[in-house]
Amino acid sequence: MNIVVTGSRGTIGKVLMKTLKKRKHTAIPLIHDEVDFNDQKVITAFLEKHQPDAIMHLAKAEEAITATLAKWAYENRKSYLYTSSYKVFSGKKVEGPFKVTDTPDGTDELALYKQRLEKVSFENNPNSYVARLSWQIADDPSGYGILMFLKAQMDKAKKVSVSENMYPSLMFIDETANALIDLVEKYQPGLYHLNQNDWYSFYDIVDYLIQEKGHDWIVLDPPRTIRKIEMLDNQKIKLKSLSEYGIKYHKEPEIFKTKKKA
Ligand SMILES: NC(=O)c1ccc[n+]([C@@H]2O[C@H](COP(=O)([O-])OP(=O)(O)OC[C@H]3O[C@@H](n4cnc5c(N)ncnc54)[C@H](OP(=O)(O)O)[C@@H]3O)[C@@H](O)[C@H]2O)c1
Repeated sequence: MNIVVTGSRGTIGKVLMKTLKKRKHTAIPLIHDEVDFNDQKVITAFLEKHQPDAIMHLAKAEEAITATLAKWAYENRKSYLYTSSYKVFSGKKVEGPFKVTDTPDGTDELALYKQRLEKVSFENNPNSYVARLSWQIADDPSGYGILMFLKAQMDKAKKVSVSENMYPSLMFIDETANALIDLVEKYQPGLYHLNQNDWYSFYDIVDYLIQEKGHDWIVLDPPRTIRKIEMLDNQKIKLKSLSEYGIKYHKEPEIFKTKKKA
């Protein structure tokens, strides 16, 4: 397929571009500071010129371009995918794991922005794929994701303090790239949650990154006990779960104890 990608120079976009090529697709970047994202005519002309079979919209962009991309794909019967975020949820009113049928309860700027662009996508293209992504595990701390967060903690406090009762939504970045391609190749349009975490705590994950992934620059404090479930329920798409990587549970998650009792 010919696939136009926005956000192609970003943390996930860079990996997606490589993965598309590996999977024999032609990836065409639509770069925000080379093309005027606010000019509908310019964007439409770009799409008419390249005639993509699919558009994958990852850029941290605004309503105008989002509406233009979604609408063009709908009118031309091409696939359109928008990457949203687990951040549409705050976990205050709705308890995780968040289902696709749950109404997002996030009220901060990022949550409202992502909720708005999901709506713009579906309003302009009822056949949209909207993928709510998890926090990303990249190979190094240079891009936005869990390693960047840990690096900032290390720079500030020289150690990292995380909870054994907090369950974040997490995906390895390569798996995210492959899952986004799988969606447009094999799945029906709709709203999807992409999360590989099958009940590993934040503490388990950081410990795994240090012990198994060689991030020995991280100094881990004893676990904290703050409870939060930020996981996305990913029933609709088949993903390799984190347990398949051989990550160890430091402490049995509460959910397993509840299941045994039932
Ligand atoms: N990284 C994560 O942990 C994570 C977690 C959940 C969801 N997500 C979502 O996944 C998508 C990609 O995330 P990412 O981490 O790869 O983002 P990123 O590294 O911040 O890159 C985003 C891209 O957006 C484009 N961009 C930046 N400013 C812009 C502007 N003013 N107008 C238009 N485009 C602009 C740039 O693309 P070009 O320079 O190529 O034009 C940039 O590379 C986003 O929708 C994000 O919300 C990411």
